[in-house]
Amino acid sequence: MTGTRGYGYTDTLDAEHYTKAIRADIHGGLTSTPKSTAPTWFYDARGSELFEEITQLPEYPLWRAELGLLRLHARDVAARTAARSLVELGSGSSTKTKLIIEALGPTGLNYVPVDVSADALHQASAQLVQDYPGIRLHALRTDFTAPLVLPELPEDGPRLIAFLGSTLGNFRRPARGPFLRGLRDIMRPGDFLLIGADLVKDEQEMIAAYDDTQGVTAEFNKNLLCVLNRELNADFDLDVFDHVAVWNSRESHIEMRLRSRAEQLVKIRELDLAVHFERGEEWITERSAKFTTEGLAEEIIGAGLRTQELWADSDAGFALILATAE
Ligand code: SAH
Ligand code: AVI
Repeated sequence: MTGTRGYGYTDTLDAEHYTKAIRADIHGGLTSTPKSTAPTWFYDARGSELFEEITQLPEYPLWRAELGLLRLHARDVAARTAARSLVELGSGSSTKTKLIIEALGPTGLNYVPVDVSADALHQASAQLVQDYPGIRLHALRTDFTAPLVLPELPEDGPRLIAFLGSTLGNFRRPARGPFLRGLRDIMRPGDFLLIGADLVKDEQEMIAAYDDTQGVTAEFNKNLLCVLNRELNADFDLDVFDHVAVWNSRESHIEMRLRSRAEQLVKIRELDLAVHFERGEEWITERSAKFTTEGLAEEIIGAGLRTQELWADSDAGFALILATAE
């Protein structure tokens, strides 16, 4: 079903489902120690816009590193997979994906961008059907941390699932295994998975990528407070929190945190909850894992997948891994 927009659209996160999911995560996350919530809620229209700004920051080289790798290897991906269906998790603006779409041949290609951000999905989809009139596009708004139910795809030909931008790193290590196995379970033999992963590098460089001098990442982090004020009728004061980025070497991830500048009690009316913050208390709002190529390959094997190619840019510290289900 393409409708008048020129693309299909399925929304599993209507107001009721979105409210239920955000309530559960925020209630659980802000009543635990340390306070820790999912990065999913950053991405309203403003959050998606701020992420696009982050991708252009000099301190955030990972986006450009992946673009560079795709420029070099999108044709190899197409040759290896010969996919006629492309499902992309956390597709955002789908900017880099265009390289894969063009390599696969857009005409008759089934493209399923999957994202939590309705604005990002509509903006990207409208642009893609204009740029590639022959593409068959069906956008899926859903939370990919829940089991994935894809729109119907043709049975013939291999499918490629792409998960770019190092968004896999937003899952903690113990959650990545079940997540990857879940993907494996919806793949048929001969289907492919392409993952982009940021690699461990110099600590100061990694921290700077999450604490830029222009303060865009700080605004992105605090956008969570705007979302919670709006969606859960909360009264977070953005000026009473500081943006913090820390390298956690034990878990090999960057943590974005919001540090309370004062002792305070914040009301979240929709949750019937008053959250107490100590002065200096830090709330973890996102984890961004940094990988090694060996570790990534092991995680792929652990999920029951077989690595076909691993392309790494060791200068930029980024890797693309193409795996297959057997
Ligand atoms: N792949 C793009 C965008 C990466 S930003 C790129 O590399 O530039 C991460 C994207 O994942 C955002 O578009 C965000 O809206 C989406 N996202 C984050 N958490 C999600 C979730 N739980 N379910 C679905 N999409 C999610
Ligand atoms: C989408 N995700 C992989 C980005 C990251 O690097 O963890 C989101 C982001 N957070 C801060 N800057 C960018």
